[in-house]
Amino acid sequence: MKRQLVMMFLAALLATVPALAEVCTPEKAPESITMNHAVFKTHKKPLVTFNHKKHHEDYHLACTVCHHVIKDGKNIWKQGDPVKKCTECHQGTKAKGKMPKAEKIKGYYYNAIHENCVGCHKAEKKKGKKAPTACKDCHQKK
Ligand code: HEC
Ligand code: HEC
Ligand code: HEC
Ligand code: HEC
Repeated sequence: MKRQLVMMFLAALLATVPALAEVCTPEKAPESITMNHAVFKTHKKPLVTFNHKKHHEDYHLACTVCHHVIKDGKNIWKQGDPVKKCTECHQGTKAKGKMPKAEKIKGYYYNAIHENCVGCHKAEKKKGKKAPTACKDCHQKK
């Protein structure tokens, strides 16, 4: 009888574990992403593998460093909110011709993604970190 109760208790406990995990990590962020957006009709460069988990956990970057919803010049996105693809807002492919840098970034995915990834890596490199800035380090041949 006692043993049966213990078993029942354990079963109940186990059943709650996945539910708890669900609540604690609302993000459901992927561990690693092969960046392959359809705004580029073809990829001229080898596809970039972005280790999402490492960037957040090992490099200690807050979600809001990369994810945003801008309202009145402020980022109102917070962890737990739905995440849209960058290309839903940065819809153009690549800026051509003269325009202010901020406009290129706002309107064109190529410019936005390189500003985000390479921009931070350049700053990190200055601080002595090993963040890649050469084309071939991100666009790695498999
Ligand atoms: C820190 C990583 C990183 C570095 C360094 C980098 N890129 Fe990219 N690049 C990306 C990512 C991410 C994308 C988006 C790919 C996607 O979402 O489809 C991209 C997209 C591109 C694309 C459009 C897709 C394609 O393959 O045609 C081109 C072209 C490109 N990069 C060229 C370059 C060149 C040239 C350099 C060096 C001057 C460079 N990149 C450096 C990360 C990087
Ligand atoms: C260093 C930049 C960076 C950080 C930090 C970061 N993310 Fe991301 N995340 C990305 C990029 C880039 C993508 C791919 C977006 C795309 O495909 O347009 C992505 C994708 C996602 C997706 C999947 C969206 C989809 O439609 O597939 C989720 C969910 C997500 N991130 C949540 C988070 C959460 C939650 C955090 C913080 C715990 C976080 N991210 C931290 C850059 C980052
Ligand atoms: C909901 C729409 C939306 C989504 C999704 C979005 N952006 Fe943006 N982003 C904007 C707007 C609007 C601005 C311009 C802000 C301004 O000029 O005041 C901006 C600005 C930027 C900037 C320049 C400012 C800064 O923070 O350095 C970069 C870089 C950038 N976005 C990269 C990204 C990347 C990478 C993703 C995907 C992980 C992404 N954005 C997803 C709307 C979006
Ligand atoms: C806000 C800063 C920041 C942003 C934004 C960022 N990174 Fe990084 N990244 C880092 C740092 C810091 C390291 C590693 C430094 C170290 O090894 O200590 C790194 C390392 C890397 C590496 C090599 C090691 C690994 O984790 O695979 C790749 C590849 C990489 N980043 C790709 C990207 C791509 C692609 C994007 C844009 C989608 C991006 N990063 C955006 C800070 C950033």
